[in-house]
Amino acid sequence: MASEHSERPKIGVLFVCLGNICRSPMAEGVFRKRVEEAGLAAHFEIDSAGTSNWHRGEAPDSRAQRAARARGIDISGQRARKVRHSDFEKFDIIVAMDNANLRDLKEMAPAGRAGSVHLALDFVEGGAGGEVPDPYYGGAEGFGHVLDLLEQMADGLLQSLKPQLAERSNEP
Ligand code: 4NP
Repeated sequence: MASEHSERPKIGVLFVCLGNICRSPMAEGVFRKRVEEAGLAAHFEIDSAGTSNWHRGEAPDSRAQRAARARGIDISGQRARKVRHSDFEKFDIIVAMDNANLRDLKEMAPAGRAGSVHLALDFVEGGAGGEVPDPYYGGAEGFGHVLDLLEQMADGLLQSLKPQLAERSNEP
């Protein structure tokens, strides 16, 4: 039997970094896990992408996979892709990891859609304007630090969506 919310459009959330092999795949994995734990998976469409096409079709960086797995998150099935123009229609919220991603996304955004683009750490108390650092050229500990930040981001993002989610459950 179809669920009572099956006709409602999902809340689309797209996470974006440069390569789509380190930060945004981890962000996707962390947020998806939070949403599943909250029993809200049916309300969300979650994906990630890169502003570059450099790693198209590749699985996440092995260090990112390992760091995520250590926290019970399997991101091995993800494959890198570049942001598409249609993403600005498909996703309600586009979350950039750093200011370069934010600028590139705002340049790409069709008229009226730049407002859907946000910085990840704007969802963290005291983190507004901050950046999720690129761990690509560093060691394994950088990936753990990124995951710490992304867990805070995921909690804040989900919290910010509570009013929208409550509205849905109040509807007949
Ligand atoms: P990401 O990290 O943007 O978090 O996926 C990077 C991955 C690859 C490169 C840079 C950053 N790269 O230069 O190839």
